[in-house]
Amino acid sequence: MFVASTYMKREMFSETTPDLVIYHANELVTMNTIFGAPRRGKDMSELAIINDGGVAIKDDRIIFVGSTEELVSKYPPEKITREIDASNKLVIPGFVDPHTHIIFAGTRENEFSMKLKGKSYLEILKEGGGILKTVRETRNASLEKLVKNGGNILNRMMAHGTTTLETKSGYGLTTESEIKILKAAKILNEDHPIDIVSTFLGAHAIPPEYENRTDDYVDLIISEMLPNVVKENLAEFCDVFCEKDIFSIEQTRKILNSAKRYGLTPQIHIDEIVDTNGAMLAAEVNAIQAGHLLKSNSAGLKAMAESDVIATLLPGTPFCLMSKEYAPARKMIDLGIPIALATDLNPNCWIESMQMIIELACYQMHLSPAEALTATTINSASAIQKQDEIGSLEIGKKADLVIFNVPNHEFLPYRLGVNLVSFVIKNGKILVSKSQSKEEQMKKRKIPGSFF
Ligand code: NIG
Ligand code: FE
Repeated sequence: MFVASTYMKREMFSETTPDLVIYHANELVTMNTIFGAPRRGKDMSELAIINDGGVAIKDDRIIFVGSTEELVSKYPPEKITREIDASNKLVIPGFVDPHTHIIFAGTRENEFSMKLKGKSYLEILKEGGGILKTVRETRNASLEKLVKNGGNILNRMMAHGTTTLETKSGYGLTTESEIKILKAAKILNEDHPIDIVSTFLGAHAIPPEYENRTDDYVDLIISEMLPNVVKENLAEFCDVFCEKDIFSIEQTRKILNSAKRYGLTPQIHIDEIVDTNGAMLAAEVNAIQAGHLLKSNSAGLKAMAESDVIATLLPGTPFCLMSKEYAPARKMIDLGIPIALATDLNPNCWIESMQMIIELACYQMHLSPAEALTATTINSASAIQKQDEIGSLEIGKKADLVIFNVPNHEFLPYRLGVNLVSFVIKNGKILVSKSQSKEEQMKKRKIPGSFF
């Protein structure tokens, strides 16, 4: 099936002249979906690498993936107008960040000293800080301000290799302000080169005006927020922060089941701080992805392994909470749960780099560099149901690629603390091109060697 369809696509594109070719990639990580999408267990290590690889792009699509030799014989160099020599470089599918909260106003650097004094996340929230501080500032912000803030974050994420991401509402907690946040995401999806998928997360915290009346707030979500979000076509997914003293298992189930009836796909934040049996619920409601999972019990994880739920691990969050505990990723991989990785970017955990997430996943959760790369490309694309369009370099898929100035993927968690990106290509367009201009500047200043 795979071979036949690839062959047909090859025929379709064989007469086309590419707009852009990339050749001599030392390591071309194709993430070919013959190894699954999402990948589980040992298949998470199958990167389908081509050494001395080449890619050809026409418009926004990939029209060739293979060896440089084959590329050159198929598309003679005299016909090529734009090319990138990826000698000594690593080429991968663009990072897909499947769990973020990028639309918000204000900042929370003041909480750093509280965390140093040992205050917990839920204590800060109970005192009106945390999510509730961001809610106050986001409610007061204009749509234009939210678009501007979100756009700045997107630019920096793009510079670090992210080409598609998911973002959530959840800092409004009124119908009007939740819709304002989702509209900001929609505007950014239309105006910014990065592709954005949106999630409605009205159940992110209990707003102060509903204190001790969580059930009433759940009713508001179901009777007013959900129908309006759906009517305006502002979200594909619905999420809930299911946690002790936030939304219970019963409330989460109620919200997600009604979201399903409205045609939204469920996902959940679960078992981050306390085990509330969230993993079992994720399997029961057939969530597309479940985030955090630090405390999930074995029965719940087993149920997830037998379901189609993807575990989206967010190692930036315990890192920013100054915690030593991370999700049991190795156990999950052994059980056969497909793992994705995400930044969870939010005002508590402001990480714009998927490279940093790969580093944390490898050092703190003992993923291999190959597993971490799978979890940030094909598996994270699957976590937002976009595995047929992005997440791997295959003929017919979107031309979303990142070129790193390192020779192989094992360098991603090895050279820490710097942005290793040389080029970011999104929908066939070069959005970030660092090496050429810098190398030219260097030559002018007669600085020997390479910056990168
Ligand atoms: O995934 N846990 C709930 N939501 C976010 C944090 C949001 C915030 O602190 O502003 C998370 O970690
Ligand atoms: Fe989150």
